[in-house]
Amino acid sequence: MAPKSLAFSGIAPSNFAVFLVAMLLCSRPIRAGHDYHDALRKGILFFEGQRSGKLPPDQRIRWRRDSALRDGSSAGVDLTGGYYDAGDNVKFGFPMAFTTTMLSWSIIDFGKTMGPELKNAVKAVRWGTDYLLKATAIPGVVFVQVGDAYSDHNCWERPEDMDTLRTVYKIDKAHPGSDVAGETAAALAAASIVFRKRDPSYSRRLLDRAVRVFAFANKYRGAYSSSLYHAVCPFYCDFNGYQDELLWGAAWLHKASRRRAYREYIVKNEVVLRAGDTINEFGWDNKHAGINVLISKEVLMGKAEYFESFKQNADGFICSILPGISHPQVQYSPGGLMFKTGGSNMQHVTSLSFLMVAYANYLSHSRKVVPCGELTASPSLLRQVAKRQVDYILGDNPLRLSYMVGYGPRFPHRIHHRGSSLPSVAAHPSPFRCKDGTSYFLSPGPNPNLLVGAVVGGPNITDAFPDSRPFFQQSEPTTYINAPLLGLLSFFSSHPS
Ligand SMILES: *[C@@H]1O[C@H](CO)[C@@H](O)[C@H](O)[C@H]1NC(C)=O
Repeated sequence: MAPKSLAFSGIAPSNFAVFLVAMLLCSRPIRAGHDYHDALRKGILFFEGQRSGKLPPDQRIRWRRDSALRDGSSAGVDLTGGYYDAGDNVKFGFPMAFTTTMLSWSIIDFGKTMGPELKNAVKAVRWGTDYLLKATAIPGVVFVQVGDAYSDHNCWERPEDMDTLRTVYKIDKAHPGSDVAGETAAALAAASIVFRKRDPSYSRRLLDRAVRVFAFANKYRGAYSSSLYHAVCPFYCDFNGYQDELLWGAAWLHKASRRRAYREYIVKNEVVLRAGDTINEFGWDNKHAGINVLISKEVLMGKAEYFESFKQNADGFICSILPGISHPQVQYSPGGLMFKTGGSNMQHVTSLSFLMVAYANYLSHSRKVVPCGELTASPSLLRQVAKRQVDYILGDNPLRLSYMVGYGPRFPHRIHHRGSSLPSVAAHPSPFRCKDGTSYFLSPGPNPNLLVGAVVGGPNITDAFPDSRPFFQQSEPTTYINAPLLGLLSFFSSHPS
């Protein structure tokens, strides 16, 4: 991420509770197998810790309480609910929508093997879509952020105490944002598939809204980081352009609605909207690899020759991220973790691994492989590469440290997360004001509240990890790290070897 915590990333105290990396390089053998289902359960639970708004009676992360109950009131609308993106208390619509899309894709492709956790995963989607429905309730408007990120990042306080500016930001016809609107349409459309049989009327509402929001995104074109530069940059600035989100929104609408118009839109706009650009990226900003993998499924199922070029792009993407192939943009650490430049590396690890396993499944159904020069990317090779990434996250790494809080014997204890690092409301009923949390932020002690299931930004390229709050790029969890991970954990829980 961009500078997420202005005040709290600039401080450099001398007493970092740095895990002594060398001491952790003990000689324990790599574990034989992981409890992927346990990790899945925890990875879903994490989303309850990120909830904003009025918490329901079945809330399981009990150290959290209601928060931000007046969100939207300054604009005369109800924008309570939704998710905090990471370790702060801002509701950023762009990554929240992407998170919801990926939660949905995890369920669509891998929900069958989630067992009793499926219902919790579906609840995690609904917490996102209930909010996105509020944010898109007015035609021609999308509310895209609640909370002034500068005001928020200047303080270290619990969401329950928040007294920072809850400014409401929106896009409209005069101030377009095809990126955030396109992603929001994608999220609503993807979720409509999740709810198709479970709650048909909710599903129809989601799909109808997705259609309307996509039409708005497409008609009034522009990047929200032009319209709302000072609110969204450098936090979730759209660096990559809005074209990919238009194709991505259309791809999900095509999948959800089967309307001919979306198929035609995709075919007609493929080149204009540059489907083949920077194909080895996939995250909240750049959807290219995801578009190509998603659309290729139909080609591989043998019923969509008109999408053939998307499969060629997807094949190119798959070849470009395999270890052992020389490529400048994806590296592997000595311990085997995929690495891309920019903050919060684990978001790349989970989203790219997700695409590998999704694509592997589409390939297997059609008994295909991807030729990558000397190498052949078979479904089993792709699963093996992705499994290595998941196992690294869960503890098979040089530090023998799980990067998921609460999973395994050793995991990060000083995550960059306001709620987790400050005493809970039950333990400390009086509020913390803006700077009251500073000593907790700087403390070498462990966080008092376990944010179970949170996966942090992770180690650096040398497999080193400081377990220290100020290193936010490494110690901050985000919703879009976990969302694709759920699909992977579900898959490996039923295919452990
Ligand atoms: C990785 O982290 C370790 C320990 O914090 C540090 O010594 C090293 O310089 C870092 N390496 C890179 C490439 O950032």
